[in-house]
Amino acid sequence: MAQLWGGRFTKQTDQKVYDFNASISFDKRLFHVDVEGSKAHVKMLAKQGILTEAERDQILAGLESIVKDVDEGNLNIGMEYEDVHSFVEANLTERIGDAGKKLHTGRSRNDQVALDMRLYTRERICEIDGLLRELLEVLLNVCEENLETYMPGFTHLQKAQPVTLAHHYGAYFEMFKRDRQRMKDILCRMNYCPLGAGALAGTTYPLDRAYVAGLLGFDGPTRNSMDSVSDRDYVIEFLSALSIIMMHLSRFCEEIILWNSNEYQFVEIDDAFSTGSSIMPQKKNPDIAELVRGKTGRVYGALMSLLTTMKGIPLAYNKDMQEDKEMAFDAMDTASNCLELFTGMIATMKFRKDRMAVSAMKGFTNATDLADYLVVKGVPFRDAHGIVGRVVLACIEKNCAIEELSLSELKEFSECFGEDVYDAISLKTCVEKRVTIGAPGPVSMKSQIEAGKAYLESEPALKVN
Ligand code: ARG
Repeated sequence: MAQLWGGRFTKQTDQKVYDFNASISFDKRLFHVDVEGSKAHVKMLAKQGILTEAERDQILAGLESIVKDVDEGNLNIGMEYEDVHSFVEANLTERIGDAGKKLHTGRSRNDQVALDMRLYTRERICEIDGLLRELLEVLLNVCEENLETYMPGFTHLQKAQPVTLAHHYGAYFEMFKRDRQRMKDILCRMNYCPLGAGALAGTTYPLDRAYVAGLLGFDGPTRNSMDSVSDRDYVIEFLSALSIIMMHLSRFCEEIILWNSNEYQFVEIDDAFSTGSSIMPQKKNPDIAELVRGKTGRVYGALMSLLTTMKGIPLAYNKDMQEDKEMAFDAMDTASNCLELFTGMIATMKFRKDRMAVSAMKGFTNATDLADYLVVKGVPFRDAHGIVGRVVLACIEKNCAIEELSLSELKEFSECFGEDVYDAISLKTCVEKRVTIGAPGPVSMKSQIEAGKAYLESEPALKVN
């Protein structure tokens, strides 16, 4: 047992209590940010005359040597320490003696861990933002290449009106773009430094909190010390944004699974991103898409878990807050892996454009356009709707598409039909005529793509400092 306290205790901690309380098994991943925070703290203490310059240099060198040893695999962050903070301080003191014991001057583990969590979450926000940006690039490439790849658009999973693959992917572009905006927004709100809040009520040392905040790339110090040590809103916001990302990925995966099915055959997932069956030799399964869809649940779980953990906690720090880590880390890892794999999967996926077009032609996706054709000929829309309904019914009985009816057959439903009807309801016309802002017509899609490119250009991946 290696812990930072014990002076007022007369008994050893019970081993089970110690194990229950310890966080090293999961907070060891805060090691690098913990040291980064300690280095800034020590620089500030020396600047304020609280430590001597010699002490500062000794501590900095000690901390750097610990990082080097850990990074090179010569020092293990062992389970005998209570938490990562104890690990660093114990190692430092072992290396440099008494100066090491001064590292924690004017600091509590409460503001220390609040800082670590912020630094770590900030890194992961930037990482997720970069992954989202890569995904957006892939989506935009597919859009550009498929302005005239026709496919059915669905409502209620029933074929509705023809769209293009570009338009369909363009919808996801918008979703993941909003996800990036959420990253930026969270970063902007959370980028304040809690160090100096102490246990809860600040400290009597003349700390320069603004200086430390600047050293660590924050926009400034947090404003209230009690809030500083007990705020985990930004983790909740991040988990919420990750949940939304997973929801988007999951919807997309669901579609890819359908599109990859024998019935649809709109896409073929690359061999490198598919798996086989141990019994059925013919199988090529979309496991990656299914797993991404499935893992959405655990990210939602992390969000629910932390919201619930936080809901009853009185000010200020309480040990409940240690529960902000494990599931949140898992959610961050999960979302990051899912984004990376998903991007790889769709970057290599092949489209069966022939199958998509045939599917768009079958299923009366041009029925609305047929009604609009009659409206142009002077038929009121409600009447046109009724006429086309009857045309569709007749086609269902004959098992044919609208455009397979002869003109004389069409004229039985309305005298207004003319030779120009076939052109008016062709797949190409149906799509090309939809040119209002946001519609699938190539003219409109081109400007959506231009806007997407300008956006990517103006918004490089988030970085701190
Ligand atoms: N492991 C703790 C956590 O993650 C560090 C803070 C401990 N503070 C305390 N007062 N026991 O929250």
